[in-house]
Amino acid sequence: MPDASRLIRTQAWQALKTHYEEIRATTLRQLFAEDATRGESFCARGAEIFLDYSKNRITAKTLSLLFALARERGLEARRDAMFRGEKINITEDRAVLHTALRAPRWSSIHVEGRDVVPEVHAVLDRMSDFADRVRGGKWLGCTGKRIKNVVNIGIGGSYLGPEMACLALRPFSQRSMDFRFVSNVDGSDFSEATQDIDPAETLFVISSKTFTTLETMTNALTARQWLVEALGRGDAVAAHFVAVSTNDAKVREFGIDTANMFGFWDWVGGRYSMDSAIGLSTMLAVGPQNFKEMLAGFHAMDDHFKTAPLEQNLPVLMGLLTVWYNNFFGAQTMGVMPYASGLKRFPAYLQQLQMESNGKHVDLGGRSIDYQTGPVIWGEPGTDAQHSFYQLIHQGTKLIPCDLIGFCLPLSPLEHHHHLLMANMFAQAEALAFGKTAEELAAEGSPALQTPFRVCEGNRPTNVILAERLTPKTLGSLVALYEHNVFTQGVVWDIDSFDQWGVELGKVLAGQITPELTAEREPPLKHDSSTNALIRRYRGFQGRRQ
Ligand code: F6P
Repeated sequence: MPDASRLIRTQAWQALKTHYEEIRATTLRQLFAEDATRGESFCARGAEIFLDYSKNRITAKTLSLLFALARERGLEARRDAMFRGEKINITEDRAVLHTALRAPRWSSIHVEGRDVVPEVHAVLDRMSDFADRVRGGKWLGCTGKRIKNVVNIGIGGSYLGPEMACLALRPFSQRSMDFRFVSNVDGSDFSEATQDIDPAETLFVISSKTFTTLETMTNALTARQWLVEALGRGDAVAAHFVAVSTNDAKVREFGIDTANMFGFWDWVGGRYSMDSAIGLSTMLAVGPQNFKEMLAGFHAMDDHFKTAPLEQNLPVLMGLLTVWYNNFFGAQTMGVMPYASGLKRFPAYLQQLQMESNGKHVDLGGRSIDYQTGPVIWGEPGTDAQHSFYQLIHQGTKLIPCDLIGFCLPLSPLEHHHHLLMANMFAQAEALAFGKTAEELAAEGSPALQTPFRVCEGNRPTNVILAERLTPKTLGSLVALYEHNVFTQGVVWDIDSFDQWGVELGKVLAGQITPELTAEREPPLKHDSSTNALIRRYRGFQGRRQ
């Protein structure tokens, strides 16, 4: 394991620092002018995904230094350890094996001496059987009606992936069914999701790895009450609730028969779980066959990550480029703009994947680190984003590297829309890279007064990610691309990308504050003066005594 406190003193890091000083003023215009084939050579392909990384502020030397850094940090060995099922999540003493969730039936992967692949496929088989019964009208509600609405109750990794996938794969989903997601503890989330549906036609999928998460359990209890009251029968739960969890005991305690529970394992992190049973709502939407196609896409990218040389390895290239901008150019944020309205929630999904994974301040040895880790991730679909915040990316003072994701063939029959969509994506990458100079503007007849305001400096880097169509398989590959990209960054920074201790403190404090908001008489408040005053103000509006 590398000594992280020495990251910035490694040979590769120092060489990159020196190289950064040489290259920082070089523009993409110059780089493209110097090499007429750059657009064809700075590209890579894997798992049917094509990456054009030519519009990055890099040369062949930058790349070779970044690969040297990856090797010095032991990326290949750490990757292999992950795939082998070693306990690389050291703070939780767990293996990190989301890759086993998409391993083919014939393969074997051992965790503490046990082959987990048969267990993975046993759950997949049960999910498939259940999904077929619900979709085929064989699993009925307690009054004998067909299930028309599926409401997934879950939060974080038990919500973002399924919602993102259900939206992205709508063209592949059963149109006679409606899929809704309740995540927030704000009662409006539940009320709005359920106000216009018939409980007798509704199936709740309670998704929670731990089955203890406050938001999910609050919403699940509300759902149970809503259903039982509406249908007037206590036995309604059996036909209208299923659970996805690793915690049998808590599922039973809630009142769901474990025969209607779909399990997974502690070696699947929440944000890496959309391809586990957590994807049950996705499978109910698109059917078992499409879900398996999605898993095949994940697996194809796993294979690529495992076997392609670093120089042609998509997740490695993207991860190292993030390190390059984050640590050398000082870029604080990264944009992800899918040119596909179905991928509307992909940036939100990536926010958890990347920021919960790599928002860390100590290394694997628990020592404070003296370099930047995970950037802020944000984004919206193009072209909407172009009419919102692209102005700042083009002409603002901040460097924001962006991933633009697009597809060569549309899912809708409106082909001419697709040409316009993709023309915009290619145009944005071009405009961001090359901009427009004062001379060019003058030659085009721009009024002198406006010229300085219209100049676009360019030199704004992008990755362009292209695939054939947004299919279940492509979606799987795309998600796995980002999973391994995040892993690559984490290895360079020598952090645990698989824990999330930072979210605990706020949960504990909320647990203390809740009774302080609801107690009849004001209890002694022992917070800071700001928090105390906010609690009093809230209690005042609630008409509670001071
Ligand atoms: O609070 C963060 C978190 O622990 C995430 O990592 C996780 O995806 C989410 O909460 C939900 O957890 P669970 O699936 O156990 O309800």
